[in-house]
Amino acid sequence: MAKTKLKLKKKFKKRLIIFVFILIASIIGIKSYKTYKYHQTYEYKLLEKNYTKEETDLLLEKLDKTKIEELLTTEKNEKLINILKQKYFLIKNLDKYLEYYEKNSDLDLQEVVALVNVHRNKDYYDDMEETDTSLGNTMLVNKYNALSKDYEVENLTNISKTYSYGDNKKLNKEAYDAFIDLAEDAKKEGYTILIVSSYRSYKDQEDVWKDYKASFGTRKADAYAARAGSSEHETGLAIDVADYYDENDKFEDTDSFKWMQANAHKYGYILRYPKGKENITGYSYEAWHYRYVGIETATKVYNEGITYDEYYEYYLKK
Ligand code: DAL
Ligand code: ZN
Repeated sequence: MAKTKLKLKKKFKKRLIIFVFILIASIIGIKSYKTYKYHQTYEYKLLEKNYTKEETDLLLEKLDKTKIEELLTTEKNEKLINILKQKYFLIKNLDKYLEYYEKNSDLDLQEVVALVNVHRNKDYYDDMEETDTSLGNTMLVNKYNALSKDYEVENLTNISKTYSYGDNKKLNKEAYDAFIDLAEDAKKEGYTILIVSSYRSYKDQEDVWKDYKASFGTRKADAYAARAGSSEHETGLAIDVADYYDENDKFEDTDSFKWMQANAHKYGYILRYPKGKENITGYSYEAWHYRYVGIETATKVYNEGITYDEYYEYYLKK
């Protein structure tokens, strides 16, 4: 009896040892497999290349598989990390940023991203796209996005002489209604804001540009006026304004301008060619030129503190 008990005990002990052994082997096996699997991940490989955890997460968030694999063939790329950290980074432009930065190493990366986003890596009026007019009030018209010659503006309305200098001016109806609110509210606070230029046809714009060209030559004409097809005035959504005098290039010195700077966006208008952003907009500073984009978009552009060209490319382009 005692013998059988002892035998059973021995048998149990043996089984227990085998069980514990299998258990330990399995734990080690699972752990090694997990480690092996982790070593295959991009996260591990990037950390191995000395990217920090934060940088690795950024790379994994922004780059696709092909780009990451390309990155793993080289040493740590600090420049790339800094580009990815830029607020307005667009993945589709990555190679263009790198190329542009290579050629313009005096620029900082924020500028590189802004310039490439608005196509400044290409010459003005080169490789033009047709303006997406389906966007209505928020369409982009500039030196890279133009209206076709036969674009037909809709919803134009006559501007009353109460709100403008000169006769026969027209503007988009919605933009005009918003301007009336703006001008009336400005008046209540003691400021005069009048429209000196509004809708222009393709032909009108062609004449404007040709006049500048005749007076100043092509380079300056391009800094002051858009070539036909590339002017916001052709959309009926842009206005040039003045205070009392019919000299809009003096508008910057007026209190009305200060009022516009603080308030235009509340009525859906944005200052389209700001000071210091000439290289992005492609135009000299124009304190008098405002573009109607609607209150919501104007407020966002104003709060963001970027040009409309940048805003459009980052937030609106389909
Ligand atoms: N002066 C502005 C840029 C235009 O011609 O539309
Ligand atoms: Zn203008």
